[in-house]
Amino acid sequence: MNTAPVNSTPAPAATRTRVLTGDRPTGRLHLGHYFGTLQNRVRLQQQGAELMLVIADYQVLTDRDVADRLGEHIEGLVLDYLALGVDPERSTIFTHSAVPALNQLLLPFLSLVSVAELGRNPTVKDEITHSRQSAVSGLMFTYPAHQAADILYCKAGLVPVGQDQLPHLEITRTIARRFNDRYGQVFPVPEALLSQAPLLLGTDGAKMSKSRGNSIALSASADETARLIRGARTDAERRISYDPESRPEVSSLLLLAGLCLERDPHELAEQIGDAGSAALKRLVTTAVNDYFAAARARRAELAQDLGHVRRILHQGNARANAIADETLAQVRAAMGGLVAAA
Ligand code: TRP
Repeated sequence: MNTAPVNSTPAPAATRTRVLTGDRPTGRLHLGHYFGTLQNRVRLQQQGAELMLVIADYQVLTDRDVADRLGEHIEGLVLDYLALGVDPERSTIFTHSAVPALNQLLLPFLSLVSVAELGRNPTVKDEITHSRQSAVSGLMFTYPAHQAADILYCKAGLVPVGQDQLPHLEITRTIARRFNDRYGQVFPVPEALLSQAPLLLGTDGAKMSKSRGNSIALSASADETARLIRGARTDAERRISYDPESRPEVSSLLLLAGLCLERDPHELAEQIGDAGSAALKRLVTTAVNDYFAAARARRAELAQDLGHVRRILHQGNARANAIADETLAQVRAAMGGLVAAA
């Protein structure tokens, strides 16, 4: 990959790696998302990659009957992306429901995977267990093939994801390979790019998650952040030490401060020493609020002009449609006989 410095002119399209990843619009993005993937996305963009961000709105309906406050969540995601440094001139933000040709790829793709393969997917199994629905919908069962359409419609080479998304990427790779074998070379086989950042725990000591009510949102105010961190679970031991195995909550707070301050969490623990968890929490609060102050201010400013935010999404959708139409035409031609009448 080329390593252009920040703010340099992007490389011409043909030499740029296309990177696709995205989020379900189900709530506010949080610090776990940031250090897990968002930070990395912006870094890739700055290195010259062409970033495609899918707001996976249809995927919201995999585990619930109705997509609540969808417009608000979509706008929130676009605001987060822009505030954190996604540049709409160089990157594409789109909602997959606005790209019909992308969705049409689902049909040939479903013909390339077996029901057994879909049923074995451990992430889908896990999501079915945690689903809010009493019955598993066909959409839940098949969404990894839909995710393959998100990735393959734009022929992405690289997909930055968390560990839990690897089974979906495996299905995507299988679909790409089988399509190429059966109909001729159309799709590159994409690679996963796993985040290096270790897992952040939420304020209750479990994995930080949008739906658990234990997260600190990127868009939270400084006061809200302070309140949430003050309420975070720690343990009874006064002396602060970094030991993720036996002291997960305290260690996760140290890790969070370490990520914001670019410091080793062991060192921070040492510095706090016997001052206890109140001192630890003060340190974490200042670190988080300082780190995100500029992005939060930018976000607040962008939120003043939602018309602008919607135009950016509109532009992204138009670009995604142009790419998807071209890919679908190639798919139809490769499959022969499925070419639409002129
Ligand atoms: N399933 C992903 C998540 O829950 C979101 C997503 C949808 C995605 N389509 C994608 C991620 C394509 C990477 C590539 O986080």
